[in-house]
Amino acid sequence: MSGLILEVRDLVKHFPVRVGVLFKRTVGHVKAVDGVSFELRKGETLGIVGESGCGKSTLAQVLMRLEPPTSGTASFEGTDMFALRGAELRRMRRDIQIVLQDPYTSLNPRMTVGDIIGEPFEIHPEVAPKGSREGKVRDLLDVVGLNPEHINRYPHQFSGGQRQRIGIARALALRPKVIICDEPVSALDVSIQAQVMNLLGELQRDLGLSYVFIAHDLSVVRHLSDRVAVMYLGKVVEIGTEEEIYGQPSHPYTQALLSAVPVPDPQLRGRREVIRLAGDVPSPVDPPSGCRFRTRCWKAQDVCAEQEPELITRVAGHPSACHFAEAHVVVGAERENS
Ligand SMILES: Nc1ncnc2c1ncn2[C@@H]1O[C@H](COP(=O)(O)OP(=O)(O)OP(=O)(O)O)[C@@H](O)[C@H]1O
Ligand code: SF4
Ligand SMILES: [Mg+2]
Repeated sequence: MSGLILEVRDLVKHFPVRVGVLFKRTVGHVKAVDGVSFELRKGETLGIVGESGCGKSTLAQVLMRLEPPTSGTASFEGTDMFALRGAELRRMRRDIQIVLQDPYTSLNPRMTVGDIIGEPFEIHPEVAPKGSREGKVRDLLDVVGLNPEHINRYPHQFSGGQRQRIGIARALALRPKVIICDEPVSALDVSIQAQVMNLLGELQRDLGLSYVFIAHDLSVVRHLSDRVAVMYLGKVVEIGTEEEIYGQPSHPYTQALLSAVPVPDPQLRGRREVIRLAGDVPSPVDPPSGCRFRTRCWKAQDVCAEQEPELITRVAGHPSACHFAEAHVVVGAERENS
């Protein structure tokens, strides 16, 4: 693992909330991503974890340049990503690819697998001249563990896990450097999840890829992640190495998420204290003052409503956005059990 490939600073994405039929008025903003910073190194996997609606997919969309940011910066290999236009933007679009959650809806049912995987070559013909494309698509099918003879089949002729392999082959077509995986295994059976995760791991080792791996469950990202960022209501609340997040979590939200991860060992299971979070996630239109987690936090004090806790290192050698950060071992989570 060497230098930085992606550096994100104070990234903000707000969506306007509009009312009115004819003359739309903006009455507020959904603060989907609200000041997110992280780094991704070459060959590394950064896991991003948090409950539904915390802004994970919005973050992915902004980094793919599918949505403009409200503010903040992102640099890819030292270049300001949001300033790129024309040929430079096209070049960057080759380097950063995405694999989406649902292999049922993300593949066009009327296109053959060969056309789906080869479509990026139509947009970037410089990567594969016309005569060479079929051979390249067959190679990609082989790389992701599918039969190259199935190049003329349609998506419905494949199982869920195989369809996700098609999505991965398509993402690999332009030989990217970074792949953003937005819950790529969430829609799959557990046994199939492991196979797809192993494939992603092998591809990373063979091709030197860097991953941003999004999931809503800490157990899914563990095996692949070098570092993990935990998000809550548009913000990163804790970030650290795999050992730090699972072995010494210091933010109450991370501790609660970890206490919900299944423990395979029945003896340990009996010793685990499960933290059940009270209430629902508040609206990102009007998040709580101070610490956004305070309405569900069992440790909240007056200061938590008044002052927003900075994401800084207070304990356990890694940053956590809690005034009262304390490393707390969650029984069964500190062991490497994958
Ligand atoms: N285009 C949009 N316009 C308005 N609000 C949006 C838009 N896209 C997302 N949001 C809102 O932004 C917030 C974050 O959504 P996002 O899809 O990024 O969450 P997520 O963490 O990916 O959730 P999930 O785990 O369910 O996929 C949500 O409140 C969502 O309703
Ligand atoms: S800052 Fe306060 S409310 Fe927020 S997580 Fe820490 S103790 Fe809980
Ligand atoms: Mg999402």
